Amino acid sequence: MTDSRIPGFYRLAFQERHHELVKRFGLTEDDLAILSEGSSLDPGRADKMVENCVGVFGLPIGLGLNFIVNDKDYVVPMVVEEPSVVAAVSNMAKTVRVNGGFSADADPGIMIAQVQVVDVADHAQAIRDLTAAEPQLVALANSKNPNMVARGGGAHGIELRSFETPYDMLVLHLLVDCVDAMGANAVNTMAEGIAPLVEDITGGRVYLRILSNLADRRCARARCSVREETLAGKGFSGDEVAQGIVQAYRFAAIDPYRAATHNKGVMNGIDAVAIATGNDWRSIEAGAHAFAAREGRYTSLTRWWRADGILHGEIELPMAIGTVGGSTGVHPSIAVLRKILNVSSAQELSMVMAAVGLAQNMGALRALATEGIQRGHMSLHARQAALAAGVTDTLVDIVASRLIERGDIKVDAAREVLAELEAGEGQ
Ligand code: MEV
Repeated sequence: MTDSRIPGFYRLAFQERHHELVKRFGLTEDDLAILSEGSSLDPGRADKMVENCVGVFGLPIGLGLNFIVNDKDYVVPMVVEEPSVVAAVSNMAKTVRVNGGFSADADPGIMIAQVQVVDVADHAQAIRDLTAAEPQLVALANSKNPNMVARGGGAHGIELRSFETPYDMLVLHLLVDCVDAMGANAVNTMAEGIAPLVEDITGGRVYLRILSNLADRRCARARCSVREETLAGKGFSGDEVAQGIVQAYRFAAIDPYRAATHNKGVMNGIDAVAIATGNDWRSIEAGAHAFAAREGRYTSLTRWWRADGILHGEIELPMAIGTVGGSTGVHPSIAVLRKILNVSSAQELSMVMAAVGLAQNMGALRALATEGIQRGHMSLHARQAALAAGVTDTLVDIVASRLIERGDIKVDAAREVLAELEAGEGQ
């Protein structure tokens, strides 16, 4: 197990960080080349992935450090364009680390396939008949994907839901354990495969046969408990920070307008890991937001409370992700990043992702409820403005700090600062 605490990593030069990756994770020169090239997805392969392909898109890969989840250290690869996401999550993971780390658990990989049946004359009778035919439906579904059964998963049951108003329809849920795969293709194939039998049994007509992204049988949960004095910093006491985080949580708990932003912060981290591991982040997003509204009102995905000098946090959300199949093997960078992340199952990955979401939320609430989010963001935005203005790597930090001094963090201003610097050098 590699220690996820790498002191001063952010201060190292790019190449020096690569040296650490070789030392700590046994990455090879080829691995490093894949990471550096950015668009190491070659155009030929990209062309096979989508239609009308004209290129390959690169994004930064950062490492979320300091994570301990269920007593195991994780260095978490994150693909994200937004400044301060990686820094914030690493910072919070460091605070949680000195308090024993995150604990987490996750459900087995159960996905729901939906089969929509209309024109059913007698719902009650159809429900009785489908229930009696459950073993047959399950066996038929499994015959469509023997590999999944061989890996210890497969369809194992059905559920039936009857809607009468405003639209009359019967909905069959096929529950499928996808084990370490996200399972979208397999589940959709099974739904399509059982549709004719469902029509025979019900006398109705099947329309949609597709998975549900509200994968609430496949939830991951993470928790942390932090001694409040370990939250002190930047002129705020631990008590003030803890109270601020709880007030921020309460705002999201009662107000959907705030909850949307609060949960966006959670997903900043989770999506970044989803992309780094080749998972479908739109599906995770859809599941998370639907889950956040499961009680009829959209609310917070996390919960924060104080007891006896301890700040407690928890998160629960659906995590339809995989470590095998789908696009997890398509992008060459993903294989390299998996060496760093070192998870051996989808369940393990989903626990790490839940911990990342909780830490990301903690970082955002902490900043928002104390000094405000802009201060920390400004230096990173200033660096981006400088880069966008064409400032070379060696001058980026100087230009960024002058932009902050001027209080004008824009690309045009960065060009002006650069011109001033160059004029100064010319004298
Ligand atoms: C920005 O990407 C995310 C935040 O808005 C999250 C939040 O408000 O909790 C800072």
